[in-house]
Amino acid sequence: RPVPVIAIDGPTASGKGSIASAVAEALGFDCLDSGVLYRLTAWAALRQGVALDDSAALAQLAATLPVSFAAGRIHLNGQSFDAAQLRTEAVGQAASTIAALPAVRDALFALQRSFRRAPGLVADGRDMGTVVFPDAQLKVFLTASAASRAERRYKQLISQGNPAILGDVFAELLERDARDTQRAVAALKPAADAELLDSTDLSLEQTVETVLALWRRHD
Ligand code: C5P
Repeated sequence: RPVPVIAIDGPTASGKGSIASAVAEALGFDCLDSGVLYRLTAWAALRQGVALDDSAALAQLAATLPVSFAAGRIHLNGQSFDAAQLRTEAVGQAASTIAALPAVRDALFALQRSFRRAPGLVADGRDMGTVVFPDAQLKVFLTASAASRAERRYKQLISQGNPAILGDVFAELLERDARDTQRAVAALKPAADAELLDSTDLSLEQTVETVLALWRRHD
């Protein structure tokens, strides 16, 4: 039997990350936040002054990311991050810009698949169910209204000590949605066999319970 994968895809600030890690914890599975890999590549590019349209250089950077994950932190080039440090608006926008480049996506493909190890994996992102793990045993497409996603992202930024203005967060979210859904490769869309889950009126706990119930049904 292939190692189980639960793919959770959805737009920015849909709560994928929190849901994925809670589901992984409940099942004792590993968790892959694929956005972190795009964010790390973007962070390294910004830092090294690599232009965000230099596809070859960015792909090279992505292919050689000396990244490792240990003790809940991300390690790159001897520097240790927590996910919140990569969650700034500047890094997010740069990540979504470089994520539109096919060469960058190809460079991260094998790395993402290498996270599939027993007893199982919960992977969240934009194309987990459509491209990276097309044979995932469960695919969930998680949505929520743009207003509620903007509010969640805003509260998250404030609680992390990042100054933010709700109107700006909303505008940036719409911009990112447009870029992620309209790009030519791995555009954000539900897999044909994905379960659609709208979390606008659900709490985190209710959403996690719904995913776990879907998993029990599929398993
Ligand atoms: O999910 P997160 O906001 O951290 O992702 C940052 C950016 O990386 C997204 O806006 C998206 O463009 C890109 N991404 C992607 N494919 C994934 C995960 C993230 O294109 N599987």
